[in-house]
Amino acid sequence: MRVNPLFVALVVAVTVSSAFAQTTTSRCAECHFANMSSVPAPQHLGDWQQSAHGKNSVSCDKCHGGDPSTFQPAEAHRGVLGADNPASPVYRANLVRTCAPCHERNATAFGSSLHQVLVRADDQRAPTCTTCHGVMSARVPSPAGLEARCATCHRSGSPLGEYPSLMRGGVESLNVQRQRADELQQAIERITDRMRRVELLASVYDARTALKEAIAGVHTFDLPALTERVDTAKRRLDLIAAAVPTAR
Ligand code: HEC
Ligand code: HEC
Ligand code: HEC
Ligand code: HEC
Ligand code: HEC
Repeated sequence: MRVNPLFVALVVAVTVSSAFAQTTTSRCAECHFANMSSVPAPQHLGDWQQSAHGKNSVSCDKCHGGDPSTFQPAEAHRGVLGADNPASPVYRANLVRTCAPCHERNATAFGSSLHQVLVRADDQRAPTCTTCHGVMSARVPSPAGLEARCATCHRSGSPLGEYPSLMRGGVESLNVQRQRADELQQAIERITDRMRRVELLASVYDARTALKEAIAGVHTFDLPALTERVDTAKRRLDLIAAAVPTAR
């Protein structure tokens, strides 16, 4: 079949303009929002819309598959499977793979944890991405929220009962350094000497990289690794702070 170039141009135009449209970027979202009473899980639609995903045009098909360019249900849903189907990209054990293209560091980290081994073995007790980040809300748990989440499975007095509060402490110290990085960055942006500014901003970037690796440590549930990376970030920020007179 010869493809009409005009048709191709039109499809491209529609795709491009819908990529810029706010939140309801795909036909999937448009139709699901329009049929709240007949689609499954309508309660998650608002979560998605408010989420970092909804706001950054991470559309339904990015996690569920299917064809977002059509209103024909059969075509749209080709390859879309229910969440409890082991072949579905949103089946518990497949989430590492589904999220990885965009969140490689954390997905890989979690993928190497005992938790994921248990998830893959179909152990319903083990956590996966949605346990902490919600089904479609992409919310990030606070340190206290994380502690509570871990403690639902690792109760105090049980073999791993100390982990929840230790992990909370680790994430709190991470947040302290992140806050510092933000403040230092603001102070550096006010420096008038361009070379100096660029050099210091590059150093802040290095410190933030250590913090990102620390977040991966949250996802391997490896507390020593988390602590060590936060310390690395702290040492880098100490050096920067010494070079920025107005900062802490
Ligand atoms: C024309 C309207 C329409 C479009 C377009 C549409 N959906 Fe749906 N979707 C529905 C309706 C209605 C249902 C419930 C009935 C059914 O399963 O067909 C549904 C069901 C679903 C389910 C549940 C499947 C299951 O087996 O439990 C998922 C997931 C889903 N849609 C995702 C998508 C994605 C992703 C897209 C875009 C690629 C999309 N939908 C496009 C109307 C639509
Ligand atoms: C970041 C990934 C992601 C995005 C984006 C996303 N979803 Fe989901 N969705 C999930 C996950 C994960 C589940 C399954 C959670 C569970 O129940 O285990 C789910 C569940 C569902 C279900 C219930 C399916 C079932 O079989 O019970 C429907 C319907 C659905 N999503 C539709 C949508 C629609 C429509 C959009 C876009 C407006 C969307 N999703 C965007 C990850 C996503
Ligand atoms: C197609 C790319 C894509 C996929 C697939 C994807 N995400 Fe995201 N995610 C993003 C973008 C873009 C953002 C917002 C920008 C950022 O924070 O990096 C984001 C942000 C997040 C955030 C942070 C929200 C915040 O407030 O800081 C979490 C948590 C998250 N995603 C979890 C997930 C999970 C869990 C999955 C798999 C079920 C997933 N994402 C799948 C692109 C994606
Ligand atoms: C046991 C809880 C838990 C599980 C399970 C979990 N996360 Fe997280 N995740 C967190 C916490 C806590 C943070 C935030 C740490 C901080 O920055 O304060 C986070 C942060 C994130 C972020 C945003 C921060 C960043 O690095 O950009 C993304 C994206 C993310 N997780 C993806 C995932 C994915 C994908 C999975 C599954 C493969 C997953 N998470 C599983 C607890 C969890
Ligand atoms: C939904 C339940 C659940 C949640 C939530 C959960 N875990 Fe686990 N975790 C398990 C199970 C099940 C095991 C296997 C060992 C066992 O049976 O206690 C495990 C094992 C572990 C191990 C041992 C890993 C190893 O390599 O030896 C650590 C450490 C751990 N969890 C820490 C955490 C931390 C920290 C959190 C919160 C960030 C958390 N877990 C959240 C269920 C959970």
